Amino acid sequence: MTNVKDQGCILWFTGLSGAGKSTLAEYLTPILRECGKKVEILDGDEVRENLSKGLGFSKEDRDTNIRRIGFVADLLARNGVIAITAAISPYREIRDENRKRSKAPFVEIYVEAPLAVVEERDTKGLYKKARAGIIKQFTGISDPYEEPLHPEVTVHTGTESIEESAKKILAYLESKHIVPAGSAAKAH
Ligand code: ADX
Repeated sequence: MTNVKDQGCILWFTGLSGAGKSTLAEYLTPILRECGKKVEILDGDEVRENLSKGLGFSKEDRDTNIRRIGFVADLLARNGVIAITAAISPYREIRDENRKRSKAPFVEIYVEAPLAVVEERDTKGLYKKARAGIIKQFTGISDPYEEPLHPEVTVHTGTESIEESAKKILAYLESKHIVPAGSAAKAH
């Protein structure tokens, strides 16, 4: 059996823009490192600046983007890294395709927040533009978001603190022996 320290996995965050995927990924990373794990974040915005530069937001382009992220995440995870992906990944079918391909455990984490909440936050000012029709095909406004049907973990960032959400994820990873016992207690 793989030593707990060397067990990689994919933490596949999915949720609306502004739901807190990147914030949660950044919050978890030092905690996971403190637990002796190797961690890489494949963040939606960063991937689009590098690996997926030039892709837009049609279904076809989003699918390509998400397949690329899944491919890289799998390479990392099978080598003992916790690969955290933080892209909207709105389509169930492509998320499931990545799950099937993954050699390491695939942990789907639904970062849930009601549209009203993310629109009120409007961290990047994009929801306002989407409502005004300046940005087309915006997820949740004028483009679909397909909720996961059986995510391993769901966090509700509209009502939970970041510590509570992180604890839920760490507790799940503990239960699967991906992080050592006692890791969840480090989220405070
Ligand atoms: S995904 O659909 O392919 O998974 P991804 O997470 O990479 O999306 O990129 C989403 C980010 O791109 C959003 O957080 C937002 O900053 C920006 N963005 C720009 N246009 C759109 C759009 N039409 N729909 C959603 N996000 C958009």
